[in-house]
Amino acid sequence: MRRRDFVLGALGTGALPYLLPQGAFAQTRRTAIPYGAAIRIDPMLEEPDYKQAVLDYCQVVVGEGGLKWIDLRPDRDSFVFDQPDRLLAFAEEHGLEMRGHTLAWYAAMPDWVETLASAEEARTELVRHIETVVGRYKGRISSWDVVNEPIADHPTREAPIRDSIWQRHLGKDYIELALRTTAKVNPDARLVINDFDFEQPTDKARARRKAFLDLIRELKGRDVPLHAIGLQGHLQGEIAIDKSGLTAFVAELASMDLTIMVTELDVIDNLLPGPEIERDGIIAQRAKDFLDAIGAARRPEAVLTWGISDRHTWVPIWFSRDDGMPNRPLPLDADFRPKPLMQVIQDFCAE
Ligand code: XIL
Repeated sequence: MRRRDFVLGALGTGALPYLLPQGAFAQTRRTAIPYGAAIRIDPMLEEPDYKQAVLDYCQVVVGEGGLKWIDLRPDRDSFVFDQPDRLLAFAEEHGLEMRGHTLAWYAAMPDWVETLASAEEARTELVRHIETVVGRYKGRISSWDVVNEPIADHPTREAPIRDSIWQRHLGKDYIELALRTTAKVNPDARLVINDFDFEQPTDKARARRKAFLDLIRELKGRDVPLHAIGLQGHLQGEIAIDKSGLTAFVAELASMDLTIMVTELDVIDNLLPGPEIERDGIIAQRAKDFLDAIGAARRPEAVLTWGISDRHTWVPIWFSRDDGMPNRPLPLDADFRPKPLMQVIQDFCAE
């Protein structure tokens, strides 16, 4: 009996989190769809179990931070590449791919950008930033989240684009500028627009899907270089996935010759029941519904989770539990033991 069959057998008994030794899935890590995770470079280099888990499971890594303006640009004249340089060195040493996150976003911006006083200044600064950052990693970083979260939380026909320093100075043309500039600097990089909250059966998600498709159609209509769409996948654990809505959305994107990446999958569990086995089961099912709905239209070119272990996750920052229990949004628990979510991801990626 193959070890994998033993593992699957164990799945049926529901005793998964406590049965599987660490790295149980290691032999199946080279899957059809690359799996990866957002990494915090310092803790990873300091914690052997964290590092081993990344090596056991990941084929792709992305910096949870490090390539955001707040990290890279403490002031207008300087660029600080320490974190991304170290993550890239780790990735290259171990044959992992590294994604770049992110060049144009409304959040994680240093205060000094508020001093940009004109459209011309904003254009010059955005272009200089992209030329410097993308230029530095040309041929080494394979895909870039060029534009992150461009759609407003509650988009309207009049205001579909999220407010940002770039939107304020350049209007939505900042999106085309960022994509064309990145393509010029590194014609081989895969250019991605990354966003979230498209998967729920709500008016908000429907409005966001519509606004996003309108934006993409416009960009494609003007032959703006764009290769893939990043669906973040920060799933609300208590809300069902609108599978038919999501599948139709992805089919529409695929019809515009775009591939799909799942870029930041985790399941926000602050409103889910307390008992871990029950909660882990719901979390795994939400993710499975999400991945299956995407895969029904177009198989993603990569699946990344926003972190790999519950020991290092952003979720408690915004979604801590009232019962004080730790959040469990990721595929490995705080001791790097696989959970049903990892099985769902491995099965989806392996098919
Ligand atoms: C989050 C990080 O995980 C946190 O550590 C940080 O405090 C805020 O940003 N969408 C994104 C990510 O594109 O960059 C965000 O990451 C989470 C939501």
